[in-house]
Amino acid sequence: MFFKYSSGKINELKADSLVFFVLQMEKITDKKLKELDDASHGTLSTLIDSQEFTGKKNEISTIYNPEGYNVERVILVGLGEKKNLQADSFRQAAGVVSRYKSLMSSSKAIFSFGKFDKNDYFQATIEGYLLGSHKFLEFKTGEDKKDKNALKEITFVVENQRHLQRLEKAIERGRIIAEGQLLVRDLSSTPSNFLTPKILAQKAQKLARSHKIGCRILDEKAIVREKMGAFLSVARGAKEPPRFIVLEYKGAPTNQRPIVLVGKGITFDSGGISLKPSLNMHYMKGDMTGAAVVLASLVTAARLKLRQNIVGLLPATENMPSSTATKPGDIVTSRKGLTVEVINTDAEGRLILADALDYANKFKPQAVIDVATLTGATLYILGYAGAPIMGNNPKLLQRLKDASQETAERVWELPIWDVHREQMKSTIADVVNSGGRPAGTITAAAFLENFIGDYNWVHVDIASVDMEPKGTAYIPKGITGIGLRLFVELLSNWKKL
Ligand code: BES
Ligand code: MN
Ligand code: ZN
Repeated sequence: MFFKYSSGKINELKADSLVFFVLQMEKITDKKLKELDDASHGTLSTLIDSQEFTGKKNEISTIYNPEGYNVERVILVGLGEKKNLQADSFRQAAGVVSRYKSLMSSSKAIFSFGKFDKNDYFQATIEGYLLGSHKFLEFKTGEDKKDKNALKEITFVVENQRHLQRLEKAIERGRIIAEGQLLVRDLSSTPSNFLTPKILAQKAQKLARSHKIGCRILDEKAIVREKMGAFLSVARGAKEPPRFIVLEYKGAPTNQRPIVLVGKGITFDSGGISLKPSLNMHYMKGDMTGAAVVLASLVTAARLKLRQNIVGLLPATENMPSSTATKPGDIVTSRKGLTVEVINTDAEGRLILADALDYANKFKPQAVIDVATLTGATLYILGYAGAPIMGNNPKLLQRLKDASQETAERVWELPIWDVHREQMKSTIADVVNSGGRPAGTITAAAFLENFIGDYNWVHVDIASVDMEPKGTAYIPKGITGIGLRLFVELLSNWKKL
């Protein structure tokens, strides 16, 4: 795919399709649309009068052969009402048009912004386009492996030449961010027989090398040396050996303390001896999305040349039942020294995060943010619509909320109260790994809190936003890659807490 940039008159540019983003209207007031109406002998007016197309959010329509334009068709995409206009309106409109047959059968297209000349709008448009049109074809064969989308080139057009450079920069940023999110989707969609902890480590190493990110892989021996007993208790049931992946991006002087990101990397979660029911168990190939978000965040930070030091910690293992597996009731000793009574071997994510959160102390972090498909209970709290967050620093939590506003990746804060902490105490060990059903999302965070160091911390539970059940404007059915845009936004605006 090629992206080009231009300013000036759209009817002088040649293409197969011309895309207009339009606000909802009752009649035509915009000069550009008046011209189009004339060129189409009143077709646009007819569409509006008949209510066939009025610019409602994500509404779409085509006008063929407008006179005096060098295009076969004009595709109109609705942005909704002016008072609700946001960057995400463009992200959605671009997502919808990205899968529109008229556009997919074109080889060259023009996206006209007209007077919408905000950087956020440009960036959101490319994000929406790339996210909406992406397909994961790696495991298809023959004809199905081919991407049927004929579109080869998009020229982004603004009215004013002065805005051209801004446009190009914003589009480039959007492209890098969208590619980051697509990396998350692809990694997470890859089945566990093609993405073992070892393969994940190899992929991380390769990506790190090509983006000048430091990468160290701890193998099983090194993990034993680190005394990560909680992590190892999950890994011991699997034949595939675990890996602990350490990534270091240096975008600031070495004396600047890093932000540490921790991602849950369960490449397959069967539940272990507390085996999950087989219905929907296949979704658990995606239990490493947290790790994918962290890996892709570092890659994206490097590509955007962010001026921060960022560490990524990815504990990676399968969670399998076998005669060497940890059994319910077993007690294990974490890296920090706290003992954990493993009530339920399916509450494995928190065990591997516990040791990673303790390992994070090595880096004297300014802040630690962990991201994980941690609890199914999130679905009963916010549904597929948003990710619960919990933490120990209101300012850092607010930053996540701000980044959420900017990126349209929703988060919502939940409390951790002493009653929840009580729920995680064990009678014979220091803590239990499962507090049962009530407040399952919160008690998971209350468990993690026992293992953090003296640093600012936020936990993001992406278990329910990880998957889109039906498909939305720019998120096709399947793995969403949500979390990446949120993290990159947070890191881009980072200031000392
Ligand atoms: N990986 C799962 C959580 C999950 C469930 C993610 C569904 C995505 C979709 C996690 O390891 C898990 O099994 N959690 C248990 C915890 C319980 C045993 C305390 C859960 O949520 O049921
Ligand atoms: Mn589990
Ligand atoms: Zn899990």
